[in-house]
Amino acid sequence: MQLTDTTLLRGHSLVGDTWLPGEGGTLENLNPADGSLVGTVSKLTAEQSAAAIGHASAAFRAWSRRPGAERGELLRAWGELMLEHEDDLAALMTAEQGKPLDEARGEVRYAASFLTWFAQEAPRVRGDVLATPERGMRVMTLRQPVGVVAAITPWNFPLAMLTRKAGAALAAGCTMLAKPAEATPLSALALAELALRAGFPPGVFNVIIGDAATVTGPWLDSPIVRKLTFTGSTGVGRLLMERSAATLKRVSLELGGNAPFLVFEDADLDAAADGVIASKFRNTGQTCVCPNRVLVQRSILEAFTDRLRIRMQMLKVGPGADPGVQQGPLIDDAALDKVSRHVSDALRRGATLKLGGEPHPLGGTFWSPTLLTGCTPDMALAQEETFGPVAALFPFDTEEEALGLANDTPYGLAAYFYTTDLARTFRVAEALQAGMVGINTGRISRASSPFGGVKASGMGREGSHLGVDEYLDVKTLTLGGID
Ligand code: SIN
Repeated sequence: MQLTDTTLLRGHSLVGDTWLPGEGGTLENLNPADGSLVGTVSKLTAEQSAAAIGHASAAFRAWSRRPGAERGELLRAWGELMLEHEDDLAALMTAEQGKPLDEARGEVRYAASFLTWFAQEAPRVRGDVLATPERGMRVMTLRQPVGVVAAITPWNFPLAMLTRKAGAALAAGCTMLAKPAEATPLSALALAELALRAGFPPGVFNVIIGDAATVTGPWLDSPIVRKLTFTGSTGVGRLLMERSAATLKRVSLELGGNAPFLVFEDADLDAAADGVIASKFRNTGQTCVCPNRVLVQRSILEAFTDRLRIRMQMLKVGPGADPGVQQGPLIDDAALDKVSRHVSDALRRGATLKLGGEPHPLGGTFWSPTLLTGCTPDMALAQEETFGPVAALFPFDTEEEALGLANDTPYGLAAYFYTTDLARTFRVAEALQAGMVGINTGRISRASSPFGGVKASGMGREGSHLGVDEYLDVKTLTLGGID
């Protein structure tokens, strides 16, 4: 990996305005495509991480009192810097995360779009003037930043999940302590370098590298940290929420999914097959909104399977940095083991293999695009997120049966369906238990749309006009004696 701007490659946490050498050992950041070393980063101790709270807290008063328009200008500058450094940021992300370079470039733009979006939302934070039942009274509401925010972000979208949180929090007037995933610290540190260049005051945006429990423990227990925002698994989200209860923090959780993708017999089958490719194989199947179960009406099952298989056969698998690659490696051996376990379990329980079903000849953590038909709800891949390039097809006969299957999961992040029937469009959209529904499209994520789930997929919404609300408290002012 060759960066044009080598100063984007940082090896220490950003605390205040200091690149702080960690005293908790080092983290070797490896390229999932070939195991080569991408960079080494020092890890903070619990004490160093606890001290970072003081920096975020000290910065809060001045930052929260700046006009929203000024905060927005800095967010805009940050987003522009990301776009200026798109090639370097993408190369770094592909090296440490594995996603194809074109997707990494797309993620840089997606990530920057949250900063641009929230740059515009920052000046729009507003309260209300309310009518009162009595004479001589006036009631107003102020919307004020909650305070210091702790953000814990995942490896699958190393930049976008961070800017989706930081953009909203900083627009609201909060300051942030961010802890990126251990697998992808370098992208987050490059983002921190650009935040400094954009001119954010010291302590407004801090990036802390270290072992998850070690560095986030002090934040979770601290009464100064008023809000936790997390993207990751449901299991960890539950633990974080429990731990946050002692200090009654505000909590936003974007957790696991088990998205159904329904294809009805009246659908445009080519469009539906394209939709599965776009959503299922994005990031090598490692997104929370990936369809995990493709439910296909029996009358079109064969025709749809053929269309999907032809498209999947054409997917180019390889190291993300190679030209034209559409599917990279999985993040690590544990991810590969899970995909392998899901495929063998499905085959043992009666699924039919139409494509792939084995590790890719490239070896390492590469897995062949896999197509299975005849899948059933008792299979592991129907119950857990596979998080890999496996399209599992489940047959159904009626709309009612499809909805029953789709909603038969504790999760409710995303759902998709394809139909050309207008009445069905509304019936199905209203009945699906999910925070986001793609109708005749596999692409549902953009800065202007609310992102978040229901049921075990979490709470709160990111992005959109709602995103800033997660970082604001409402204060009611009641004035008497106004006759
Ligand atoms: C995720 O996988 O959690 C995020 C995907 C997205 O923003 O589209």
